[in-house]
Amino acid sequence: MAEAGINTASFNIAKTQESCRIQALSCLEKTGGAVLKASGLASGKGVFLCYSKEDVEKALETLYAPQMQKASEVVVIEEILKGRECSYFTLIGQNKSQGLGFAVDFKRLADEDAGPNTGGMGCYTPVPWLPANAAERVEAEIVEPLLKALRKRNIEYTGWLYVGLMWGESGPSVVEFNVRLGDPEAQILAVADERDWLQLILQKLNIEVPIEVNQGDYHPNKKVVGVVMASEDYPYGGKNTQGSKLPQWVFDDTPQGGMTFAAAVKTDGNNILTASGRVLTVVSQGESFHDARANTYEMVQKIAAVFKTCRYRNDIALKVTKEEETND
Ligand code: GLY
Repeated sequence: MAEAGINTASFNIAKTQESCRIQALSCLEKTGGAVLKASGLASGKGVFLCYSKEDVEKALETLYAPQMQKASEVVVIEEILKGRECSYFTLIGQNKSQGLGFAVDFKRLADEDAGPNTGGMGCYTPVPWLPANAAERVEAEIVEPLLKALRKRNIEYTGWLYVGLMWGESGPSVVEFNVRLGDPEAQILAVADERDWLQLILQKLNIEVPIEVNQGDYHPNKKVVGVVMASEDYPYGGKNTQGSKLPQWVFDDTPQGGMTFAAAVKTDGNNILTASGRVLTVVSQGESFHDARANTYEMVQKIAAVFKTCRYRNDIALKVTKEEETND
């Protein structure tokens, strides 16, 4: 990002616990905070926001625990960016970017952003608090310079790009890139976007579309809210939890204009049982965030009556709904 001139947090790396401690404390002293990130795979559980020396020590304890050895071979120490977090999604091929829009993900396990980080407990799209030219800015300030820097290295990237952002007073800074769609962001974008993604993908690969596909359309004004229903042991997992039986209506009774997506489920004969992890994502839409939320939570509560051990957040898209009501 530094090479491509893309806005991001200033950072350093550490290869030992002591070097990590020294750099984290120095970042804390200079900027009032520090983010510590395991650079290897940690299932969304390797990022720590530290605002005090105690936070740093707690993060070091987890990062340098024996089971994190591989993930924490290199730890990144970053300044904490200020602003509001959101993500931008685009499909890239033939050196061109085709934006799908923005989403906001809720990463903490419990209401009011309490509890540990997870892979994502729910999300919404679009993001009304962004400026009208937000997509143009991300394309011009981030995606284009990134593709240019990749071309300079003879890399022609084809695929999804997930741009994790902090939107501050002066605009977007990159928090992370993922070369995939997000989860549960993929589910809400799939509901918001009526275009056929197979067709979009084939076009990006320069493959002629061999079948009749739904031309559909992208409706930037449709409000979509997704809520994850996880197992009671999530995000720690590993427990041999007894699966709850999910009746067929869970998948057949579609929430308003959306769908219930299954992820962590297992079968037992003809029965579908819950497994350990993020079990379901319930997604629905509405004319307003108020309606989309009400539709989604109505289905969530119905399912919770049969999936009694589930955990889910009650405040997905709550703030944006309150802002919508204030702006009306
Ligand atoms: N929900 C965040 C991610 O998929 O990275």
